[in-house]
Amino acid sequence: METFTYQGGQLHAESVPLEEIARTYGTPCYVYSKQAITYNVNDLKNAFGGHPYRICYAVKANGNLSILRHLKDLGCAFDIVSGGELERVRAAGGDLTKSVFSGVGKSEDEIRLALDANIGAFHVESLGELHRIDRITQETGQTAPVALRINPAIEVDTHPNIMTGARENKFGIPMEEVLQAYRVAAKMSGIRICGISCHIGSQLVDSRPIIEAVRQLAELSDRLSDEGIKLEYLDAGGGLGICYQREHPPKASEYVDGLWDALGQRSLTLLVEPGRFVVGNAGILLTQVEHIKRTDANRFAVVDASMTELMRPALYGAWHGILPVRKEQEGRQTCLYDVVGPVCETTDCLGRGRKLAIADGDHLAIFSTGAYASSLGCTYNARPLAAEIMVDGDQHRIIRPRGDLQQMFASELPALE
Ligand code: LLP
Repeated sequence: METFTYQGGQLHAESVPLEEIARTYGTPCYVYSKQAITYNVNDLKNAFGGHPYRICYAVKANGNLSILRHLKDLGCAFDIVSGGELERVRAAGGDLTKSVFSGVGKSEDEIRLALDANIGAFHVESLGELHRIDRITQETGQTAPVALRINPAIEVDTHPNIMTGARENKFGIPMEEVLQAYRVAAKMSGIRICGISCHIGSQLVDSRPIIEAVRQLAELSDRLSDEGIKLEYLDAGGGLGICYQREHPPKASEYVDGLWDALGQRSLTLLVEPGRFVVGNAGILLTQVEHIKRTDANRFAVVDASMTELMRPALYGAWHGILPVRKEQEGRQTCLYDVVGPVCETTDCLGRGRKLAIADGDHLAIFSTGAYASSLGCTYNARPLAAEIMVDGDQHRIIRPRGDLQQMFASELPALE
């Protein structure tokens, strides 16, 4: 779906000119398209067709409550990784009883919180965690629904920092320990085994490794079944990639067909935990050029957005498209720019060597920033969190105001004298 398009030489989000957004709310701000999110979820839903499935949106990709509420309305459940994300889902009215709780280090408090909220399942990543959950249920008299997260030791072609299913990664239970871990779980009175899960990495533009992982998990489920351990679902995790530059990720239908094929005739519900696929290309980061700065060695466009709004280039060397909001303007010379933010870090560079025809005061849109941009945002250099705007057709609304500077340090107390 074409969400951000030039209309009359001006970049629009759906039918709203981005200049209007910049004028109304200031910059930097994130602009999300509600229709694009709807489109992406429906794309997945259509791919699943009549098969039993559940989409558990990965809240970490973008946890804004308006987005969560919209996803809930579209029928999604959620994948959470902290008590904070649990509270976000609750505040958005999401169904926690259908949601899953992932992560290698759930604290006792978080486990209690999730048990009290009747979480759909804990995705358990170690024997230590299994024992911790069981012990808590002994104390409270509750029962914890559990799926084990497997590390299938499959390397994937993505940035090493977002691989999660390789042998040396901290995630999941190693394949050779899984059967034993299920046997231990089956004997625990506070644990109800309900599924099996994996998540082997993010921004995967080849779905074959995910499909291979599902094949391995499906075979494991047969062995468990032979031992009398019956599963309700198999969770393939997230990871489906998007196009940032020239990548060719699989279509939702190819991905889902591959998963079903790997599952075969087994009567398991298929869960997926997409994050980036749902919101990644549904958002841009709108910024203004503060200065054009020339040195002997380089030409910089210093903008008012920075690594605090978009950490991905600094963290993963990620590439994001950058386009001017007004396509062609008189008197602009096209040059190669490093687009940099005001933050005092050399890695605060949002795009290197970009061909742009710009001047001070122009607005730029940084693409594919719906996922892992706002959610990775921080207040380094005492920068307030950027505003978030939702567009729907020709309507726009602020869904998170810019951070308040006074509130940022209001809770800090004087030190002991
Ligand atoms: N499920 C689990 C257990 C996960 O750890 C993740 C992402 C997902 C689902 C969603 O994956 P997705 O569908 O979005 O690929 N900050 C990095 C991405 C980190 C992903 C962490 N886990 C980035 O900006 O590329």
